[in-house]
This record gives sequence, C-alpha cells and structure tokens, in this order.
Amino acid sequence: MGKDSLTITDNRTGKGYEVPLRHGTIRAMDLRQVKTSPDDFGLMAYDPGYTNTASCESRITFIDGDKGILEYRGYPIEQLAEQGRYLETTYLLLNGELPTAAELAGWVRDVTHHTIVHENVKELMGGFRYDAHPMGMLMSTVAALSTFYPEARHVRDKAVRRRQIVRLIAKMPTLAAFAYRRSVGLPFVYPDNDLSYCGNFLQMMYRVSEARYHVNPVLERALEVLFILHADHEQNCSTSAVRSVGSSESDPYSATAAGIGALYGPLHGGANEQVLRMLKEIGSKDKVPAFIKEVKESGGEVRLMGFGHRVYKNYDPRAKIIKRMADQVFEVTGRNPLLEIALELERIALSDDYFLKRKLYPNVDFYSGLMYQAMGFPVDMFPVLFAIPRTSGWLAQWEEMLEDKDQKIARPRQVFLGPPRREYLPLEARSGAAALAVL
Ligand code: CMC
Repeated sequence: MGKDSLTITDNRTGKGYEVPLRHGTIRAMDLRQVKTSPDDFGLMAYDPGYTNTASCESRITFIDGDKGILEYRGYPIEQLAEQGRYLETTYLLLNGELPTAAELAGWVRDVTHHTIVHENVKELMGGFRYDAHPMGMLMSTVAALSTFYPEARHVRDKAVRRRQIVRLIAKMPTLAAFAYRRSVGLPFVYPDNDLSYCGNFLQMMYRVSEARYHVNPVLERALEVLFILHADHEQNCSTSAVRSVGSSESDPYSATAAGIGALYGPLHGGANEQVLRMLKEIGSKDKVPAFIKEVKESGGEVRLMGFGHRVYKNYDPRAKIIKRMADQVFEVTGRNPLLEIALELERIALSDDYFLKRKLYPNVDFYSGLMYQAMGFPVDMFPVLFAIPRTSGWLAQWEEMLEDKDQKIARPRQVFLGPPRREYLPLEARSGAAALAVL
C-alpha cells in the first residue's frame, strides 16, 4: 500500500495490518480484520460521545474549532451574518449555492405560503397544561405534523421531501409563537404574509389588539442575524439525533422532533436559558469572583454556562458577532442589567488559568440569552428560538444523509460488560440483591 495508509501492529499476535487512509480517517470497519483467532469478533473503536469519530462525510458546514472558524457551504459566518438574510441562508444550506434573485423570490414565496398550520394544531396546543414548557409543546406538535402529511414517509422521493422541508421551515415560527401564546394565555395570531420571516414571527409573538403590528426594524434584523448564526453547526448532538432517527427512513417531522428533543437539554440548546438563570443567581458584578471560585472547586459539577464547546477551543465566532450586535439591540430595548455580570464573568474567566488551560471560551449561548431577553422573549422560549433556525440545518443534513450512498441505519456497537450467560432463577430462589440495585 502507498503512503496514504496506516500500519497497525497487533502486539497480541505480532501481526501487522495496512489500513487505507482517506481524508485523514480510517474506516472503523477496517479494524475488524484485526483478530487474535478466526472466531474473534475483531477490533472495534470505543468512542463514547463520538469525540473522535466521523459519522458521515458532509459538504454543508465547516468548523475549525482551534481557529474559531465557521462556514456554511464555504461562506464565512461573519459575511452571511452581516450581508445575508435568513431565508437566503436556508436556501444555501439546502442547495449548496446562494440563490439568484429569481430563485430567492421563489423560495421566499414558497416558505411564506406554508406558514399556516391546520386548525387542529390549535386544539393540540390547547391540550397542554397551562404551564407547559414551550419546547415540549413545539416538540410534540412538530411530531404531530407527520399525521397531517402522511406522504412525508416517502423519504426517497425528492419532490415529497422538498415539500416537507418547505412546510417545516415555514411552520416552525407559527408553532413556536402558538406555544408561547398558549403558555401566557393569549389568543393565537395567524401569520401575516406581507411580513418577512422574522417580522412575521415577531408579530405572531407580540401582537395584541392593534390592527397592524409595527415590527421594529432593528429587532427584526437582530433576530435575523441570530437565526443565521444558529442555522447549522455540523454534527452536533441534535443534528446527530436527526440523522440517526432519519436513517431508519422515518419521516422528517419525527426526525425533527427528535432534534428538538436533543436540543432541549441544558448542555445543548437549553444552555442560554441556563446562562440567564446563572446570571440572575449570581445577582451582581461583585459576586462574580465567588462564583468563579465555586465553579473551579466543584470538580466539574458547577459549570460556567455558556462557556466551553466540544469543537471550539477558541472564542466561538457566533458569540463574537452577537456581542458586537448587542449594543444596537440595547439601544432600542434598553441595556440588559445582567450584561454587566456577563462581561465581568467573561473578563475574569478569560484571565483565569482554569479556563485557559481547558480552552473554555464563551460560546454562542453566552450572549444570545441576554439579547433574547432584552427583545422580550421569556427564558422558556430561548431553546425554541434555537430550534426555529436550526430546523434548516437539520433538514439539509437529513437530506444529505438520505442521498449519501455510504449511509446506513445508525446502529452503534457496544462493549458488553454485563454478566455472562446464566440460568433463569424462579422467584423464590432469588436473594433480592438485584431489587435493591434497581431501587
Ligand atoms: N464550566 C466549567 N468547567 C467546564 C465547562 C464549563 N462551562 N465546560 C467544560 N468544563 C471543564 C470540565 O469540567 C472538564 O474539566 P476536567 O478536565 O478537569 O474534568 C473540561 O472542562 C472538559 O469538559 P468536558 O465536559 O469533557 O467537555 P465536552 O466537550 O464534553 O463538553 C460542553 C462540552 C459544551 C458540554 C461543556 O463545555 C459544557 O457543559 N458547557 C456548558 C454548557 C454550554 O454552554 N453548552 C452550550 C454549548 S454551545 C451551543 C451548542 O452548540 O449546543
């Protein structure tokens, strides 16, 4: 074999193996030939949390975590955030190229005309407890959409697929706003097709009795930028969930609901909610050093939420953009008093050995919550605001997966460490030790 290979020596047997290298990876299945005897199963890779395992080849999003670079289809996130529009970005993610003016007009028209949801969805929303978390409502109603569009299960049909993608991107803000209105006891507001994607979302959230809701252009643009920043982030936890569920060829509503479930967690999309709670708990700038001390002494139990990232070992470029945009938003909304605490946390953390050694920098969630709160979104809505734009990334990744001939149903292996085969014990013969373990 040539230079593009890896030589493995199995010290158990002394045997050598040549494994081909492609794009800096080996195929895990090539390890299977490494055996101690013909009936040995063969070598596997053990990688909890997939910290060093590529599950796919992708052409959508590029991240260089050490340098703090993020690109969608080759375009730097800074340029997209400064000059682009959110729906243009969704087109780019899904199709690989920026749209022409005519393509963009067609795409915006398609999405705009699918924003309405079936009336039964309102009844579904009405069935939740008065204090239901909007993310739970969103997850359930997105899953329920599969029952409204049974054709969606024909995932191998590109035209069918594309229809569901338009529906999902279009209906997400409607469902999100409905979930919010339900949680505060306000009547649902229908979409207004004369408004932009973000402008319409804001009017569905906040319109009360005025004939026409006036969308503040600064806040509309800020939301648009936040949506662009959150649209995709390659193989993160929720995207992997979408790909994994989608790999069984279930419909995109079910796969997207799985993504929302993954995003709900405090270590992923729930983090900006946690950042706000943490800032509130700290309470004032002078209490920051004591909190940092607590984080450092807790052995990983108390975390500085909004800090650290599996991939970024540098300042998250999205956090930089949000921090820069904050002043424009606060000029309209008034300064968020928690900002002082956040800035102090960042200042101290970025000069502290604990954080520097572990390469823990602010991530996208550190400042996004402050912006959302200033814009009037309740904390419960933060993960929902993440789910709306991430839907476009999930669906671009979902479609890429379906078109990738290399992909199969996701089915990881395990290293089994449980008991070896044993005989069934009748009830009266059992000692009870296992029951205690279960409790
Ligand atoms: N505060 C304090 N210590 C931390 C933090 C933090 N936020 N994050 C990681 N560490 C420490 C951790 O205790 C460990 O220390 P040690 O080596 O002494 O055991 C070390 O840094 C490595 O941490 P890890 O948990 O092995 O790293 P990971 O790559 O598995 O976790 C993470 C990544 C994002 C889950 C983690 O950094 C974290 O919990 N951050 C806070 C939650 C957060 O802000 N999440 C949003 C992520 S960005 C949005 C998104 O894409 O979802």
